Amino acid sequence: MKLQVHTNADMSHQNSIYFKTKLFLDSLKNNGIKPTIDKIYQRVNYKIKGIDFSTQNLHDLTLVGNYKNNGTALVSTSKDFFYKVFFDFEKELNQKIKRETFIDFGSGKGAVLIHANSIGFKKSIGVEFAKELHEKAIINIQKLKLSNTISLHQDATTFDLPIDTSVIYLFNPFDEIVMKKVVQNISNQKGNFLHDVYIIYVRPVCSDILKEHFKLLYTKKYPSGAVVNYYKV
Ligand SMILES: C[S@@+](CC[C@H](N)C(=O)[O-])C[C@H]1O[C@@H](n2cnc3c(N)ncnc32)[C@H](O)[C@@H]1O
Repeated sequence: MKLQVHTNADMSHQNSIYFKTKLFLDSLKNNGIKPTIDKIYQRVNYKIKGIDFSTQNLHDLTLVGNYKNNGTALVSTSKDFFYKVFFDFEKELNQKIKRETFIDFGSGKGAVLIHANSIGFKKSIGVEFAKELHEKAIINIQKLKLSNTISLHQDATTFDLPIDTSVIYLFNPFDEIVMKKVVQNISNQKGNFLHDVYIIYVRPVCSDILKEHFKLLYTKKYPSGAVVNYYKV
C-alpha cells in the first residue's frame, strides 16, 4: 500500500488533554517510569520558560512560495525522540557524526533546531515557509539564548545547503512534488560538501524519491510506530 502525505491536515487534536494523556500512558508502557518523568519534567520546564512547540494547522497561516498546498501541519519532534533517533544512528554507523551544520527542512517552531544545538552542532538552520511558525521559532530560540541556531522564513525548494552541512532532518514535511525538488537540489550540491552528509527522514512517505539519489543505510521502526529512514548523500 502506498503511503500518502496528508497535506494541510487538521492536527489540532494533538493539543487535546485526551491525546496528551494517551501519549503519557503510551510512554509509560513503552519507555517506563524514569524516561516518562524526564519527559514531563522537560515539558514543564519549557512551559515555565514560555517555550511553545505545540501542534498547529497550516490554515490561516501566512505561507511563502509556490507550494502552499503541499505541506504538512506542524507537529514538533520531541527531544527524547530526536535523541533516540540520532544516537541510534551513531550506534548503527559505529561512529560519531560530525557536529557541523544541521539543517531542518520545514522547521516549524524550531524544536529540532534547539535539540540539535543541545547535542553540540556548531550551527543549526531551519527553513520554514509559515511566517507565524518561523516567528515563534525565533522567540523560542531567543528565550533559550541560543547562538548559531537560525530559523529562515523561506520555501524549502529555494534553499541551498551550506557546504559544511553534516545532517539533514526531514520530519514528513511535504508531499512528493516538493520533495522531488528538494532532493534534486541536495543531489546537485553533492560534490560541494566538506564532510559526509547524512539524512534522517522521519515518517518517510516519499522514500522512493530519496532512494533514487541517496544510499539508504537502514530503516528503523520505533515502539511508538514511527518509522525512520537513514541515508548517506
Ligand atoms: C511535521 S512538521 C515538522 C516540524 C519540525 N521539523 C520538527 O520536527 O519539529 C512540518 C513542517 O514543514 C513545514 N513546511 C511544509 N512545507 C514547506 C515548504 N515547502 N517549505 C518550508 N517549510 C514547509 C510546515 O509548515 C511544518 O512546520
